[in-house]
Amino acid sequence: MAHRVTLIPGDGIGPEVSAAVVRIIEAAGVAIEWDEHHAGVTAVEQTGSTLPQSLLDSVIANRVALKGPVTTPVGEGFTSVNVGLRKTLDLYANLRPVTNLPGVPSRYQDVDMVIVRENTEDLYSGMENEIVPGVVAGLKIITATASERIARFAFRHATENGRRKVTAIHKANIMKQADGLFLRSARTVAREFPDITYDEKIVDNACMQLVMRPEQYDVLLLPNLYGDIVSDLAAGLVGGLGVVPGANLGEQAAVFEAVHGSAPDIAGQDKANPTALLLSGLMLLRHIGERTAADVIFGALTRVMAAGTTITRDLGGSASTTQFTDAVVREIHAHRG
Ligand code: NAI
Repeated sequence: MAHRVTLIPGDGIGPEVSAAVVRIIEAAGVAIEWDEHHAGVTAVEQTGSTLPQSLLDSVIANRVALKGPVTTPVGEGFTSVNVGLRKTLDLYANLRPVTNLPGVPSRYQDVDMVIVRENTEDLYSGMENEIVPGVVAGLKIITATASERIARFAFRHATENGRRKVTAIHKANIMKQADGLFLRSARTVAREFPDITYDEKIVDNACMQLVMRPEQYDVLLLPNLYGDIVSDLAAGLVGGLGVVPGANLGEQAAVFEAVHGSAPDIAGQDKANPTALLLSGLMLLRHIGERTAADVIFGALTRVMAAGTTITRDLGGSASTTQFTDAVVREIHAHRG
């Protein structure tokens, strides 16, 4: 029986990279019925809403979605669809594995970490007010419930995946109350997992350490804003935004999406690297029990990367999105005979 999965193509390079991923997954022989829904600007034109109820109903019914990036206007316009989706469906854990891919050129070759980002609160509360003209206050919301929940997710993930250390990242020297609560929650949960080493780093020092000695990190546990920023920094350690996947996980649904955004500078030019969304798609396949297909696709992907003749521009090659996708599909067919 075919799996039913919600597909949100997204904006900018979203439709190009999601079409590539759908093609590759189909080539591996996985039967998926894609239930396509639009969000953001495209959805407003069709439904009058940036996050239509029909999209939310689809994700809740299917419990799993593959999502391309959605554009959010800077400094004006509608609020983020991504934040809205994560909050509405309570997708509280943002999981971003950052590892070197065989054959992918990057500054470091021994990076293997997982970023666990709290996805529902912090400065992303959306509560901002101009108190008097020229003075704006934004609310940073940190709760013990959400902090302990994400810390427990990080420690469980470490335990279940053979990882040894969880590092909580914070700025509790300045935000003594908010980040202090996040840290206290992490410490409380750490005591439940004596086999996992627990340590803490102030976020500015953590960023410096990440670019000096990234191999010292294993699982990073961060509140929402630091998690967002540090994810992009970490992507830069292993080849850039074109190769780092992600998942937004909650009790009722899982939405898989790359770390990168809609890349308006290269949208519609057949230049985007679909690898990040493809790796997110492989996380999705493993999530729905299609491990063998995920392994076959990963093998094909790494062979294409290692051959180095058909890689996209962001990795120093000259292949288009289509040429790269063709190469991965050929490798899958070669493997399947
Ligand atoms: P971005 O991630 O879209 O792009 C940053 C740089 O990385 C650009 O030079 C872009 O060309 C490059 N890049 C990104 N993905 C790539 C890929 N797959 N292949 C090759 N090069 C790639 O970040 P930016 O420009 O800050 O944001 C653009 C829009 O995306 C904004 O509206 C932002 O709100 C939105 N966004 C959406 C996200 C989501 O839907 N989850 C996440 C991050 C940003």
